[in-house]
Amino acid sequence: MKILAFETSCDDTSLAIVENGVKVLASVKVSQVEHNQYGGVVPEIAARLHSENWRGALEKCLNLAKISLDEIDALAVTQGPGLQTSLLTGTTAASFLSLFWQKPLIPVHHTLGHISSVFLDAPEFYQKNFPVLVLTVSGGHTDFFLQKSFTEIKKLGQTLDDAAGEAFDKVAKMLGLGYPGGPIVSNWAKKGNREKYAFPIPNLGKNSLDFSFSGVKAAVYRQIEMEKNQENFAGFSETFIADVCASFEETVWKIFAKKITVALNQNPNAKALHFVGGVSANKYLRENLAKFLANLGVDFRITTNFEYCTDNAAMIASAAYWLYQKNPEIAKIQFVDANSRLKF
Ligand code: KG4
Ligand code: ZN
Repeated sequence: MKILAFETSCDDTSLAIVENGVKVLASVKVSQVEHNQYGGVVPEIAARLHSENWRGALEKCLNLAKISLDEIDALAVTQGPGLQTSLLTGTTAASFLSLFWQKPLIPVHHTLGHISSVFLDAPEFYQKNFPVLVLTVSGGHTDFFLQKSFTEIKKLGQTLDDAAGEAFDKVAKMLGLGYPGGPIVSNWAKKGNREKYAFPIPNLGKNSLDFSFSGVKAAVYRQIEMEKNQENFAGFSETFIADVCASFEETVWKIFAKKITVALNQNPNAKALHFVGGVSANKYLRENLAKFLANLGVDFRITTNFEYCTDNAAMIASAAYWLYQKNPEIAKIQFVDANSRLKF
């Protein structure tokens, strides 16, 4: 079954064609650099660019996959959550094509997309031994799940304030480093002293699998203000920027390590840990997680391709396939609503 998916929940216009939930035949992403100057995504600009870009991306996608329209079995689209105007562009385009081409359309929850991203182009993960723990970490969400099958997901915890990716973005903004902050902070962190500043690790109760990043963010803010208030302050030194970034990244790692330990203790039957979402592109976190879990004898899985960490349509096509396998009724020729309040 070949599914053509749209993902326009934030600032990337992504289209992909995936066969049977795992084999990526084409994946196209048009990134919107226009937001960089604002230090964050401007919803109105994002929606306008999605409307301008999706047709070109569709053409490119079909050419890359080298298949004709007849070979597409179904469409899929991110229904939510995300920026409402961005979601509307994708759901409107996919709905229009569903009606025009008379092909079924499968609405997909964005988070189920991220969760499915580990199976893309990964035949060895495909025949899965569930249950697995899934740490989903993005700009908009930081959640812990127990995944019992491709579509059965139980939430174990979530962030109570900022998402981890959002915290990376805010640290970069406070230091005047640009957007998106994750890759920039991570690059600076390589040159810094990870023990220089002791940013706080939140204590939400010893059994809690919830997260909080606002305290860390506030501590970074205070450190930056102290630096600015120094006599003869003439801008941040490279050492200061690198040390703040390194200490911040280290704190995020310590928060993850603490929560993963709790999650594994509470779920001894979990066969592996999957790390997904934009922040899973972070090399330091990936490497630490791999070592940490190897020591505990727990399997660790990440996407085969960095492109599938951040928002992409291939993960939406994959999730749509598993949803269809569970309930073929889900695939209808239809017009879907963008509903950012979808529960998961
Ligand atoms: O999954 P994603 O593309 O979008 C959402 O669903 O939010 O994640 C985007 C987030 C941004 O906050 C970005 O700063 C973060 O992922 N990110 C990273 C890295 N690459 C992207 N964070 C830390 N290290 C990275 N290398
Ligand atoms: Zn996402």
